[in-house]
Amino acid sequence: MTTFPTGFQWGASTAAHQIEGNNLNSDFWALENAPNSFIPERSGDACDSYHRWPTDLDLLAETGLGAYRFSLDWSRIEPSEGNFSRAELAHYRRIIDGCVQRGITPIVTLHHFTHPRWFTDQGGWSGPNALVYFDRFVRVASSILDGVADVVTINEPNMVAMMVNMFKEERRNELVAGAMPPPDQQVSEILAEAHGRAREILHQETDARVGWTIANQNFQAAPGAEEETKAWAWSREDFFIEAARSDDFIGVQAYTRVRIGKDGALPIPDGARTTLTGWEYYPPAIGHALRHTAEIAPGIPLLVTENGIATSDDDERIAYTHGALSSVAEAISEGVPVRGYLHWSWLDNYEWGSYLPTFGLVAVDRESFVRSPRRSATWLGAISRANALQDPPAKLA
Ligand code: BGC
Repeated sequence: MTTFPTGFQWGASTAAHQIEGNNLNSDFWALENAPNSFIPERSGDACDSYHRWPTDLDLLAETGLGAYRFSLDWSRIEPSEGNFSRAELAHYRRIIDGCVQRGITPIVTLHHFTHPRWFTDQGGWSGPNALVYFDRFVRVASSILDGVADVVTINEPNMVAMMVNMFKEERRNELVAGAMPPPDQQVSEILAEAHGRAREILHQETDARVGWTIANQNFQAAPGAEEETKAWAWSREDFFIEAARSDDFIGVQAYTRVRIGKDGALPIPDGARTTLTGWEYYPPAIGHALRHTAEIAPGIPLLVTENGIATSDDDERIAYTHGALSSVAEAISEGVPVRGYLHWSWLDNYEWGSYLPTFGLVAVDRESFVRSPRRSATWLGAISRANALQDPPAKLA
């Protein structure tokens, strides 16, 4: 039995565009719905969590998890430039209150990949007013954050800086070919600036702890490629961790590892076990990610804000998560300051182009929207209640 530090937070994460449905004003919705879109599947109604969030929170509380990370959809709150919707702000405030009423700690992300269409039409993060627009959104969003203890400014800014090309027709083939291009360094710097300014605004307007959540891909050097790996990791990951050195916490997100050779990322070896996203099955990813983050930003409290597996086999989800939690416990025992663990994801949701990779602790029927908690949900809930991990995984009913 491995016990976790007193007060360790246990929960699950979601993101607006992936669960709400019908985010009509977002740039990703526009991409999905463009004629001959290169995105295979539309988000459509998603999990209809825009309406069904009370059920989602009821189930989370019943399961025994204590924290819920969700995001605001900027394109709902500011559907056209400068026009803010009081009704949408009130909607998100009701979710925050709904968490508190159920004894769940809300963790709010302000930006999770999508933007209002008008923002992207004006050049997105490279547009002349990007920082002013984001500042203003953050200030308005602050008005509903009273009592929220942790706020994430931007989710996976490193992925955002890689995804900008998705919105540029002439660069799309790079994505269709499967390889993410390196982040646009100019965009990375703008995002770091936007984050710093948002942190300042949130510190002025709220009592929340502020951080951002970084995608950690565990870049591992092939023999002889140590220098190349450092360079590869810097623009894709380490730059963003360095930019978090004055934050109140850092969100650490990891699922797999990527090996780097002299000429860049190496393919997953033939015969390696993979998940429904095609990533290598690698449970210790999160432990390594925590150590790596603590090395670059020593002393900053870390929160696992995402970790999980896309699988159709719930026993595999439990086995993966058991391995992941063991690696978290190991990092803690080495002195890495980890505050909590939020699983990705609470629900089977829209995985940015497809519903096939199922990451959820809770299955969602695509037609009726009926939620069915999986055994993995009950299993993680029991760990949360005990604040301890049984070793080996508890026998399942
Ligand atoms: C993102 C999520 C995504 C998950 C699995 C992270 O990159 O924050 O939105 O669904 O990983 O791919």
